[in-house]
Amino acid sequence: MTETYPAVYVVDDDALMRESLASLFRSVRLRVVTVASAQEFLARSRTEEPGCLVLDVLLPGLTGLDLQDELAKANVQIPIIFLTGHGDIPMSVRAMKSGALEFFTKPYDEESLLTAVRQALARSHDAGDQQRGGGRHSSETIIGSSTAIKAVDRRVTTVARTDSTVLILGETGTGKELVARSIHALSPRSGRPLVSINCAAIQPSLITSELFGHEKGSFTGALHQRVGRFELADGGTIFLDEIGDLPAETQVALLRVLQEREFQRVGGNKTIRVDVRVIAATNRHLKSAIADGTFRSDLYYRLNVFPIHIPPLRERREDIPQLVEHFLRMHAGGTGKPVRSVDAKTLETLQRYSWPGNIRELQNVTERWAIGLEDEELAVDETTTAAASPHLVAPGAEPTADVTLNLREHVAALERNLIQRTMIAAGGNQSEAARRLGLNRGSFIKLLKKYRPTTTA
Ligand SMILES: Nc1ncnc2c1ncn2[C@@H]1O[C@H](COP(=O)(O)OP(=O)(O)OP(=O)(O)O)[C@@H](O)[C@H]1O
Ligand SMILES: [Mg+2]
Repeated sequence: MTETYPAVYVVDDDALMRESLASLFRSVRLRVVTVASAQEFLARSRTEEPGCLVLDVLLPGLTGLDLQDELAKANVQIPIIFLTGHGDIPMSVRAMKSGALEFFTKPYDEESLLTAVRQALARSHDAGDQQRGGGRHSSETIIGSSTAIKAVDRRVTTVARTDSTVLILGETGTGKELVARSIHALSPRSGRPLVSINCAAIQPSLITSELFGHEKGSFTGALHQRVGRFELADGGTIFLDEIGDLPAETQVALLRVLQEREFQRVGGNKTIRVDVRVIAATNRHLKSAIADGTFRSDLYYRLNVFPIHIPPLRERREDIPQLVEHFLRMHAGGTGKPVRSVDAKTLETLQRYSWPGNIRELQNVTERWAIGLEDEELAVDETTTAAASPHLVAPGAEPTADVTLNLREHVAALERNLIQRTMIAAGGNQSEAARRLGLNRGSFIKLLKKYRPTTTA
């Protein structure tokens, strides 16, 4: 289980920040230790090495960077994720260059930070396993043996060796970020930073400066000079997530970087050249965005050098058993505890569900299930009752009040709920609801009939 991973250490002098980070990590059942300074971190005697460090850059006394140096000197290898305010960017550039895993600016995006922390934990775990001679999957392994996912995997391997721009397309939760990480990890740039930015999570007016930096005083609120993500990624890879949400003004600036590999900071006149590999991703249909004038076609063609389309999970249901096993194994966390198994009938149910949230939804369901079941087998029949079901609520679904459902019933409840909500969202139009769920009208109507007699939820 997640608790068996070594703890996440948060080093930050700001008590509020420590608290909010700790509660974020604890909310997903990670163990957390917080300390207020680098000295305190070094002085603390530890019975186990931290699984990862979430480190503020600008600390009183020893800085985050000094701490990174100290650890390197002592040959202590802990994945480091830097978290920084706005005034300390040049230091962060150094941090990335000396091998920090990831870099976030405050205010951070919770989901992305959690992903980075989980990946860091898995990475130190993998490293431990390799030392012990175990052969586990690394955190960048793309699981699945369907023809569709194998094709994705081949494209990843092929393009990783090059410097080509990659455009990753796929619905939410299909593994776009995983594919981006995997390309970076397999590329000759893997020893250099992978800098991610979620274009949808940043205020449109700030994205240009976030990407390219700004000079002090270039706009109201620009109190310090700021180095952008492109500079931070120099020598490495930049991952532009949710590229379909990029505002028009920033699209022009990005186009120029892709064409000329150079840019200027906002309000600056110095031309900066960088060597950065670009990977972009979106769940939007960019061709329609071009048609309705919200995405530039010239930028699209610059990005679409090597497209990778990740099919939704419902089109590769044969991957579900392997994915479930993978998530359960990840969850067991190499504790030596037996990895739980799932009975065939449950798998069948899981394979029938349409997984609108794709692999993330499957992962959530599997993990909550594992948490709820504690030491029980994941063979859900009679034994699986009150304990497991409340955890089996997929994101966005209404929690069901009935805690006596077993997994199959629960998935059915989810399905029913989803159908009802989609019908409402589609204004009662069956064809539209079917389209939204990625089903043909016939299968949708069958499901509608199946659930119509019930009045629950
Ligand atoms: N083929 C796969 N094998 C193993 N894990 C996977 C696979 N695909 C996705 N995952 C896991 O599922 C979760 C969701 O994947 P990811 O974040 O990459 O999706 P995404 O397409 O970026 O989603 P979104 O559009 O919502 O940002 C992650 O934890 C990821 O590691
Ligand atoms: Mg993503």
